[in-house]
Amino acid sequence: MTSLTPKRPADSVTEMTQILLPGDANALGAAFGGSVMGWIDICAAVCAQRHARQTVVTASMDDLHFHAPIKVGMAVTLRARVIAAFTTSMEIGVTVHSEHPVTGERQLTTSALLTFVALDKDGKKLPVPPLVFDTEAEKAAAADASERRSERLNRKDRGARWLSLVRS
Ligand SMILES: CC(C)(COP(=O)(O)OP(=O)(O)OC[C@H]1O[C@@H](n2cnc3c(N)ncnc32)[C@H](O)[C@@H]1OP(=O)(O)O)[C@@H](O)C(=O)NCCC(=O)NCCS
Repeated sequence: MTSLTPKRPADSVTEMTQILLPGDANALGAAFGGSVMGWIDICAAVCAQRHARQTVVTASMDDLHFHAPIKVGMAVTLRARVIAAFTTSMEIGVTVHSEHPVTGERQLTTSALLTFVALDKDGKKLPVPPLVFDTEAEKAAAADASERRSERLNRKDRGARWLSLVRS
């Protein structure tokens, strides 16, 4: 049985560091987007699991923006934080920064929002602990996330229209 004692977003912040190697690059010597998305998914999943202390699955990834390319040889740092906890789902925000190995210059390259759902071993959805906020900024970000949740679920419903076109 998982504890549903409220937790602070700071308690599950997750960081992950990579080096961009040629196998993860495109023809321009910059990061292949799919590799970065895979790292984002892992970093965010660990963060969600730390918050829920349950196995989680990715329900959606959106607001994904590639702000700047990451060149081969750069260090890549990902940071994930719980923005909001709903009933069985959590919205996680992720930022990705590149770091030049010699100059140390850092740049925001990618950001994304992901929603994870906590499941038990039989695939049954499980409640997740609520968040307790230390700052007004955290509270405001969670309120934004509630709006995004509604819009996201609406978009999912409306997706039926374009899905049928693509599938046909
Ligand atoms: C994600 C999944 C568990 C949702 O199950 P479901 O029965 O369709 O979902 P429900 O309508 O009961 O909603 C359950 C929760 O998921 C959320 N949710 C469902 N679809 C969502 C979506 N596309 N985006 C964001 N949140 C979503 C709901 O808001 C709800 O959250 P809440 O309990 O906090 O209010 C299910 O669709 C699934 O297993 N998908 C495959 C997951 C997967 O394989 N991921 C990739 C590998 S990890």
